[in-house]
Amino acid sequence: MKKKFLALGLAVTMAASLAGCGGGGQSETSAATTAATESTKAEDTGSESKADEGSQEESENNSEAGADLQTVTPGKLTIATSPDFAPYEFYAIGEDGTPTLAGFDMALAQYIADDLGLELEIVTVDFDGVLSELQTKSVDLGMAGLSPDPKRESIMAFSDLYYIGGQSLVTVKANAETYNTLESINKPEVSVGAQIGSIQMDLATANSPDADIVPLPKVTDIIAELLAGKLDAAYIETDVAKSYQKNYPELEIVVEVPYEQEGSSIGVCKGNDALLAAVNGSIAKALEDGSMERFIAEANELASGEKYEGLLDENEQIQQ
Ligand code: ARG
Repeated sequence: MKKKFLALGLAVTMAASLAGCGGGGQSETSAATTAATESTKAEDTGSESKADEGSQEESENNSEAGADLQTVTPGKLTIATSPDFAPYEFYAIGEDGTPTLAGFDMALAQYIADDLGLELEIVTVDFDGVLSELQTKSVDLGMAGLSPDPKRESIMAFSDLYYIGGQSLVTVKANAETYNTLESINKPEVSVGAQIGSIQMDLATANSPDADIVPLPKVTDIIAELLAGKLDAAYIETDVAKSYQKNYPELEIVVEVPYEQEGSSIGVCKGNDALLAAVNGSIAKALEDGSMERFIAEANELASGEKYEGLLDENEQIQQ
């Protein structure tokens, strides 16, 4: 199911002529705020949003450049993500128990939208959905701790890297002695999880061809199954595993797994070179002005302890 989160702020009246990213109509600038809130919005095509005139943000941003950018919905930056991936993107639970999208990808998304003078709109889907939203040009960007895997080059362009992580084999403490090498899990009786569509699936098939590989739609499903003893081990991004480990200390990282295209980039709708260049400009700025460092620290802080319900997303709770 697809849900959209719309950045609060001043929307701009816009024409509903959409022809995919880079082919759309004119874009206009609007001020976006930092708070992202849920909105029940119709499907991409033909949706309109009306509001009073947008007020332009002051100087220091690229909104001049943003005004010339073509996006799926003029005036907006539509970004697909898969919020099962703390500290990149996840649901933080507010004081009143409401889940809100959080994570350093989301903070960077808002930064880029502000920098380009566009209103942020987040579309949440499972990770394989992020890839297909980009492929069908239904969104402008995919921000989901996405690896610049050469196999994806035919369906998207990659921004510069904005974060470097690592890959791990994860199990639970009780099994840490048994499954402590890649060889130890490469057996038909060992169940090994990986997220559908992810490079972790490739790592699983490359390193554990004899194991019982279990593809699951969400990383949070993988964590839940590991904790429930339904999976023996799983391939998970190291910093993500570390993040969930803070909430679920039974998790244990047993092996660091080598991977060639290490690092996270933003998937950019193919053919929109102006947007790619603008996004790279904003990434460079966020890395340089200390914002990225702050986003990472804030996301790590929020993803540990009581403010964060690790395996809870909007509808699901951990099934043990
Ligand atoms: N880095 C991996 C990939 O690009 C996994 C990304 C998963 N992201 C997520 N939000 N679940 O395939």
